[in-house]
Amino acid sequence: MEEKNILLETGEGVALVTVNRPESLNALNSRVLSELECVLYGLEQDRGVRAVILTGAGDKAFVAGADIKEMAAMTSYQGHQFALQGQRLMLFLEKMTKPVIAALNGYALGGGLELALACDVIYASDNAKLGFPEVTLGIIPGFGGTQNLSRLIGPNRAKELVLSGRIIPAARALEWGIVNELCPQAELRDKVMGLAREMARNGSLAVGYAKDAITNGLDMTKEDGFRYESSLFGVLFATQDQKEGMGAFVEKRKAEFQGK
Ligand code: CAA
Repeated sequence: MEEKNILLETGEGVALVTVNRPESLNALNSRVLSELECVLYGLEQDRGVRAVILTGAGDKAFVAGADIKEMAAMTSYQGHQFALQGQRLMLFLEKMTKPVIAALNGYALGGGLELALACDVIYASDNAKLGFPEVTLGIIPGFGGTQNLSRLIGPNRAKELVLSGRIIPAARALEWGIVNELCPQAELRDKVMGLAREMARNGSLAVGYAKDAITNGLDMTKEDGFRYESSLFGVLFATQDQKEGMGAFVEKRKAEFQGK
């Protein structure tokens, strides 16, 4: 598939993925969702990529939601399929073995906020605006937003946001724990790049397992989560990365991880 709506830049173990439909504030139509899926599947397979950043083109929006113009004519069946397509992408992001950082450079609304919530870390520019305006359109969030937001900030605040359709400033999103960190828009790229490079320098198997333990542990009882964590911990002792990481510490040198 030719990815017309997605830009991809890679270097130093980091892939920068940009949704590129600035004329529609990077709204997600089914084509963009398919292209994003394709690009992310490719990055998951690429051993040279150890961290991913997702952002939107231009200085106005990360992603202003699913494409309302496309959705306007959908039947109930098509609406369901569209939600399943979006959810498949969100679940894939959560299951990726590499960390994914969302860089919110402007509006992150509806499906755009859902895309960010499926990432592992969210950084935002201080002029970003976040919200779930779906109810103002007669629908509900359909790309996992009702589930991911309430797990992240609890049901009360999630309901305040989703049932009102209100759009909140980035500072409020930070206070509520939706966003990890804010910075001026001009500094956002360097900030997320710095974090991504930090993650990319670590043992990639360990980073992937740590993500796995946290993400999957959330759906387990605490005891099952502990059991899962200790199994992954044990498996890592069979890797060269563990030998290298601990050997480098003992020998007082920098570890050179190979991801195996
Ligand atoms: N879908 C399709 N087109 C969109 C869009 C969207 N979600 N958001 C913006 N656009 C388009 C606008 O229609 C406009 O195109 P035209 O020039 O052809 O008219 C262009 O992008 C620029 O937008 P505006 O002129 O509206 O820009 P603004 O600065 O006046 O307003 C905004 C910005 C407040 C973000 C406004 O565009 C807006 O409210 N957008 C819709 C936000 C929204 O409701 N998102 C949720 C969608 S539903 C969803 O996501 C469902 C789900 O969970 C799966």
